[in-house]
Amino acid sequence: MNGFPVGILGTGKYSPERRLTNQELETMVDTNDEWIVTRTGIRERRIAAPHEATSDLAYEASLKALAAAGITADQLDLIIVATVTPDMFCPSTACIVQEKLGAKNAAAFDLSAACSGFIYGLANASGFIATGTYRYVLVVGADTLSRITDYTDRNTCVLFGDGAGAVVLGRVPEGRGFRSFKLGSDGSGADLLCIPGGGSRLPATETTVAEGRHFLNMNGRDVFKFAVRIMGSAAEEALAMAGLSKEDIDLLIPHQANIRIIQSALERLNLPEDKCMINVDRYGNMSAASIPVALAEADEQGRLKEGDRLVMVGFGGGLTWGASVLVW
Ligand code: ACO
Repeated sequence: MNGFPVGILGTGKYSPERRLTNQELETMVDTNDEWIVTRTGIRERRIAAPHEATSDLAYEASLKALAAAGITADQLDLIIVATVTPDMFCPSTACIVQEKLGAKNAAAFDLSAACSGFIYGLANASGFIATGTYRYVLVVGADTLSRITDYTDRNTCVLFGDGAGAVVLGRVPEGRGFRSFKLGSDGSGADLLCIPGGGSRLPATETTVAEGRHFLNMNGRDVFKFAVRIMGSAAEEALAMAGLSKEDIDLLIPHQANIRIIQSALERLNLPEDKCMINVDRYGNMSAASIPVALAEADEQGRLKEGDRLVMVGFGGGLTWGASVLVW
């Protein structure tokens, strides 16, 4: 990639306290632990407390990322929050995080690319740093999907959880940092995963709320097929752009939507499970937060060694996808 080399200087994550287990879901809808585990790999997910909104989760993860990077909030030039569950439509959640952190020198905006949002955010941030426009950028993936989940719909309510992950990006020595970004979209699949109500197409009314149009609506089977296809191909394209091949991967950090989707990516990339971060069993799908939370856990667990080649890859509503190769 052109310009200054850009990499990740620090990671952080935040998970709400409350655990929603499969056993508890059995009491809420017609489902069972065995179905959920075999079809999705999920055993529990975290749910934000009533007083917690997306910015609160993002703030906690950001504090940790800043501490790990060894910089203060006022050194930040830009804050990007990737989310589909902003605190409110306006202002952006990034501005709320900017004020909570006291990042008084930072510009701030939200980025909407669903579960691919974190990778999109990294690509944006690294462009600003590579060109010398900015020195330090905070990229957060944060979602509170429990607020847009219909807990009477067994097709979706078993899948989602809440959380936030954050990273600080800055310049790194030559030979390290991001090597490629492959981003993509296919708006013809917009209906497969959407929140139909509450926007300018279908403003919130008593009827839209009564009909549950403000909840996340998903065609699970079609999203599954798309995900299986795109995870492998996006990762392969990002590797090729970086001049690397599958054999060069030290650690894969995939979006955590479903263990079967992750396993199919591993097969396609010919990787053993121990070269992959998997935490979908403990968190479910946290949308934009899934990849940065898994990355922060890899960091915490000492799984990221200098010179390691990481591949991050995600897919989501839009439809969107993104993959990146990074030398740690
Ligand atoms: N418990 C028990 N049975 C269930 C449940 C449940 N929680 N949910 C669905 N079923 C039933 C269905 O009703 C269906 O019954 P039927 O055959 O009588 O109609 C049966 O189980 C099988 O349904 P399928 O849709 O074939 O199940 P599948 O194996 O495809 O798994 C799943 C469903 C887990 C949703 C899968 O399709 C999937 O993971 N899709 C991708 C979801 C995803 O990745 N979303 C990303 C969101 S990204 C973002 O931007 C937020």
